[in-house]
Amino acid sequence: MTGTVAERAAADPVIEFRGIGLTYPGPPPVAALRPCDLTVERGEFVAVVGPSGSGKSTFLNIAGLLDTPTSGMYLLDGVDTGTLRDADRTALRGLRIGFVFQTFHLLPQRSTLENVKLALVYSGFPRRERTARAREALEQVGLGHRIEALPTRLSGGERQRVAIARALVTQPSLLLCDEPTGNLDTANADSVLALLEELHADGMTVLVITHDPLVAARARRTVTIRDGVLSVSDTEMSEVAR
Ligand SMILES: Nc1ncnc2c1ncn2[C@@H]1O[C@H](COP(=O)(O)OP(=O)(O)OP(=O)(O)O)[C@@H](O)[C@H]1O
Ligand SMILES: [Mg+2]
Repeated sequence: MTGTVAERAAADPVIEFRGIGLTYPGPPPVAALRPCDLTVERGEFVAVVGPSGSGKSTFLNIAGLLDTPTSGMYLLDGVDTGTLRDADRTALRGLRIGFVFQTFHLLPQRSTLENVKLALVYSGFPRRERTARAREALEQVGLGHRIEALPTRLSGGERQRVAIARALVTQPSLLLCDEPTGNLDTANADSVLALLEELHADGMTVLVITHDPLVAARARRTVTIRDGVLSVSDTEMSEVAR
């Protein structure tokens, strides 16, 4: 093997599922995700689609180390996550993964800057550096001029952009989004999507659960889940056709 440890890690896929599945014990047991294989390379933009209750959030929660699979092996950035102790899983999640949810989960009494800084509490960065990084992340999402604003004074799209800044501030290798535009009107949804595409263009690996066919159409690959069964299709051809 050649190259430094860091170079080899950068060459690993971000996500590698080998026979990953999850059955909730019940009773009755629910096979929320049937054993599946999936590789997501660094810098990919993947849409996750499927009917309600099909297993999309289950899939994303496993990828995000929020849920533990009941079968298979999950390598995140080349790390076999099944071998980690709880504290190490939590640390890996904090370091490598940014989450964006349908509801923004912002603290209403804290400024946008403070909301973003909170993601760095356990990062080990000194306080001054946390502020500088949080400002930078807010600038990255186009909200550098609203750092003192309370979330209640922002539009839905702006709130989601604060949530994206909070997800980005730890410089994760993976952005996991569960219906990020689900609570937004068309104009705000468009601005959030444009931002996700921009981040992807800058090299971020992005997985987005969506019911919106327009979102899915923008992704280069689509993961479809039906009744817990995962399949992958390439949207590269339709990209070319457009
Ligand atoms: N903690 C749990 N215990 C038991 N069953 C669960 C649990 N969480 C989810 N399920 C079941 O697993 C299946 C998949 O759920 P999941 O939340 O992944 O669906 P989804 O595709 O995200 O749906 P939606 O589009 O409505 O968000 C569903 O049948 C659901 O009822
Ligand atoms: Mg869901």
